Amino acid sequence: MSISIKSAEDIEGMRIAGRLGSEVLDYITPFVKAGVTTGELDRLCHEYMTNVQGTIPAPLNYSPPGYTPYPKAICTSVNDVICHGIPGDKVLKSGDSVNLDITVIKDGYHGDNSRMFLIGEPSIMTKRLSEITYECMWLGIAQVKPGAHLGDIGHAIQQHAEKAGYSVVREFCGHGIGKVFHEEPQVLHYGKPGTLEELKAGMIFTIEPMINAGKREIREMGDGWTIKTKDRSLSAQWEHMILVTETGYEVLTLSAGSPPPPAFITNAAK
Ligand code: MF3
Ligand code: CO
Ligand code: CO
Repeated sequence: MSISIKSAEDIEGMRIAGRLGSEVLDYITPFVKAGVTTGELDRLCHEYMTNVQGTIPAPLNYSPPGYTPYPKAICTSVNDVICHGIPGDKVLKSGDSVNLDITVIKDGYHGDNSRMFLIGEPSIMTKRLSEITYECMWLGIAQVKPGAHLGDIGHAIQQHAEKAGYSVVREFCGHGIGKVFHEEPQVLHYGKPGTLEELKAGMIFTIEPMINAGKREIREMGDGWTIKTKDRSLSAQWEHMILVTETGYEVLTLSAGSPPPPAFITNAAK
């Protein structure tokens, strides 16, 4: 099997879906504060997607082989939840960190992205983990150009995370995406330079490192979806959807409210 090269028409559809996915995060940002429940954030995002954007929340009823259908429109992963946290009665409080992972479908195309939100007055530790994870994502993105390899992305992310004393989750990875939510390739967030598939213009995939403050091991909760750190340490994640261009990359999940890239990206001649 091989990695699909998107047509010009597909790329245009993915640009639109990507921007809409990012705009859901822009929309929800002012609501993400102490006192709100994750269920309320889900409800607000779901209504915005369906009533304002005319998009479909891809997670709702999503059921890959071996999984029960996902019951909500978004994922809300709080503190030691690594990914796939199910929105519910959980009330956010000052000091919490939460990843909101949004995937919309527009005209059949998926727009998948996530951001971290720090509630009230987060600790220096919480801020640092989110910042390093954000840098990890962007260091991975910066590797993307035709002729580079998937292993270059994983290596850049792993190096930065481990240098900071953190660990990289192995069980979940970035993924190809288009009309299908999760397709080839798997984009590992660890690895060796020059290994794995060579990148070609027209490929689209996510980069979404999950970084733990403690050890990398995970445990699965009984709900069939929620993944936590085994050692109960804090975990962070950021996600963008990336197009390989003739000269490098294009981030498809950008909008007015996207946080700016780190200075090392802005300063580099791309
Ligand atoms: N959006 C997640 C990703 O980045 C996948 C969530 S699947 C769900 O790949 F069913 F949990 F929503
Ligand atoms: Co996602
Ligand atoms: Co994804």
